[in-house]
Amino acid sequence: MQAAPAADALPLFEAINVSKSFGAFKALSDVSFHVNDGEFVSIVGPNGAGKTTLVNVVTGLLRPTTGEVRFQGRDIAGVGPVELARRGMSRAFQLVNIFPALTVRETLAVAVASRLLRVGNPFRSLRRDDVLQADAERIAEVLGLRARLETVASALSQGEKKLLDIASAFALNPSVILLDEPTSGVSTGDKHTIMEVLVSAAKAAGVRGIVQVEHDMDLVERYSHRIVALQEGRVLADMSPQAFFADPAMIAAVVGTRPQTLRKPH
Ligand SMILES: Nc1ncnc2c1ncn2[C@@H]1O[C@H](COP(=O)(O)OP(=O)(O)O)[C@@H](O)[C@H]1O
Ligand SMILES: [Mg+2]
Repeated sequence: MQAAPAADALPLFEAINVSKSFGAFKALSDVSFHVNDGEFVSIVGPNGAGKTTLVNVVTGLLRPTTGEVRFQGRDIAGVGPVELARRGMSRAFQLVNIFPALTVRETLAVAVASRLLRVGNPFRSLRRDDVLQADAERIAEVLGLRARLETVASALSQGEKKLLDIASAFALNPSVILLDEPTSGVSTGDKHTIMEVLVSAAKAAGVRGIVQVEHDMDLVERYSHRIVALQEGRVLADMSPQAFFADPAMIAAVVGTRPQTLRKPH
């Protein structure tokens, strides 16, 4: 991806006054945010702030109670992940969602196959398998998993499992990718590796926007063009990392129950 563009460019996608209730409980209240072409946006906030609910709403998994979600100018509220992937938005999940008995090659081939089916599958029999294999290998290469192509998912390290989950999202050829805590549960060193691989893969694959939910403030500071902070279902802040990390009260509000990641502002 390139550096963040001018703020007046048409957003890639936007949530407008989105609210989401579960029964009497309001998980999101009037949330608006957008992602510009070329942007890496981090969604932060303490546990229970509504981050996953927001990702579920903007990826069409949940329908907002009120409000609108627009992707490339069209309302996508509640269209569902399959149709949304067809339009160019895909996501990876907080809990790695892979089949333990499949190899990396098989996992990626399944993801590529679902894309080919989705676009009407112009490929036939033998030719189609060649395309699947070539594409699975290309994606494994980009995500640093080439040496693991024949390894079953259950034998991968935690960091490699995360990369495989991200790779499956890339197999859908998305223009926007959403990641819910892509580095949760891995060591600090692996977190940085995953982020470096993710950013360079996005660039190589022509991904135009990344949204990630992330708790690690070092990663948020290093990779985001913009930070959207949620607190109790509302937008507390939507600002540059520079502004965010210059405000100790903001950091404290967001880090919430994870003071061990609190760092000195500079
Ligand atoms: N399906 C659901 N039914 C009822 N409450 C939910 C549901 N999903 C999330 N919530 C509640 O909404 C709030 C926000 O949850 P979530 O979006 O998962 O927060 P975060 O990802 O920021 O930790 C929490 O209080 C959670 O318990
Ligand atoms: Mg969550």
